Amino acid sequence: MFQGKVVWITGASSGIGEAMAMEMAQGGAKLILSARRQDELKRVAAQSGAKEVVVLPFDMTDPNIFPVMVKQVMDHYGRIDMLINNAGISQRSNCVDTDMETYRKIFELDVFGQIALTKAVLPHMITQNSGHIVIISSIAGKIGVASRTAYCAAKHAMMGFFDALRAEVHQHNIMVTCITPGFIKTAISENALKGDGSPYAKIDDDIKFGMDVTKAAKIIMRGFKRGNKEIVVSQIPERAALWVKRLYPNLLFWIMSKRAGKENFK
Ligand SMILES: NC(=O)c1ccc[n+]([C@@H]2O[C@H](COP(=O)([O-])OP(=O)(O)OC[C@H]3O[C@@H](n4cnc5c(N)ncnc54)[C@H](OP(=O)(O)O)[C@@H]3O)[C@@H](O)[C@H]2O)c1
Repeated sequence: MFQGKVVWITGASSGIGEAMAMEMAQGGAKLILSARRQDELKRVAAQSGAKEVVVLPFDMTDPNIFPVMVKQVMDHYGRIDMLINNAGISQRSNCVDTDMETYRKIFELDVFGQIALTKAVLPHMITQNSGHIVIISSIAGKIGVASRTAYCAAKHAMMGFFDALRAEVHQHNIMVTCITPGFIKTAISENALKGDGSPYAKIDDDIKFGMDVTKAAKIIMRGFKRGNKEIVVSQIPERAALWVKRLYPNLLFWIMSKRAGKENFK
C-alpha cells in the first residue's frame, strides 16, 4: 500500500513519529522526516532503512517556515502522498496554575502548526487529485482529562478542524484520518509543559504503563490498510472510557473528577 509513496512525518525524532517512520520504511515508502533535532532525525533515518529519505528539520511554531519547507519537499520528490501531523506537546498543570503564555505555546504547536503545514501541503494534493492527511490527536481529543486543559482543548480543536476538512476535501480524492491514541510509552510526559512553561521532565504512571510504541504504530498501519477514518490506539481502560462517555456521560465526568483528585502536578 505504501510502496513508493511519499510520506511526510512530523515529530519523527522520537516516540510515535519515530515508530511510524520505521513502519513506513518497511512498507517501502519514501520519507520526509521533520522535527527540531536534526541529529535525532538522522539517527531515525539511518535506522529506518528507508530507500529514500529526506531529513527536514524545522520548528513547527515558526509561522513563516511552512511554504519554504513544502517547496523543498516538492523540489525533491515532486509530490506528497501522505502528511502525518504528529509533532505535539502535552501539559501537566492545573488551569489555575497555568500561564496564558503556556496555553498559547501549546496551541501554537498542537493546533496552529498543524493547520499551517496542512494548508501549505493541501494545494499540491488538490493538484494531484490525491492525498492522505493524518493527525495524531488523542483520547484527550474526545475526553476531558484534569491537568491537561490546554492539551485537551488543542486535541478537541484538531478533531473538529480535521473532521470539517475531511468533508471539504473528499471531492479532491483526499482522505483525512484522525488517530486517537490512549497512553503510549514515549517521552510525552517528560516533554509536557508545567504551568510556567517549563518541562515536566518526569515519566508519569499513565505513560510508564502505556502501550508499547511499536505496537501502537502497527495498529495505526493496520487502520490505514482498512481505510478507517478514525483509528483508536489504546489499551482497554481508555477505549472503555470512550464508550462510557458516549453512553453515560455523567458517569464518565464523575470518574474523571475522582481520578483528578489523585493527581498533583504542582
Ligand atoms: N504518548 C502518548 O501517550 C500520546 C497519547 C495521545 C496522543 N499523543 C500524540 O502523539 C504525538 C507524538 O507524541 P509522542 O508521544 O511521540 O511524544 P514525543 O516522544 O515527545 O514526541 C514529540 C515529537 O514532537 C516534536 N516536536 C516537539 N516540539 C516541536 C516543535 N516546536 N517543532 C517541531 N517538532 C516538535 C519532537 O521533536 P523535537 O524535540 O526534535 O522537535 C518529537 O519528535 C503528539 O501529537 C502527542 O500529542 C501521544
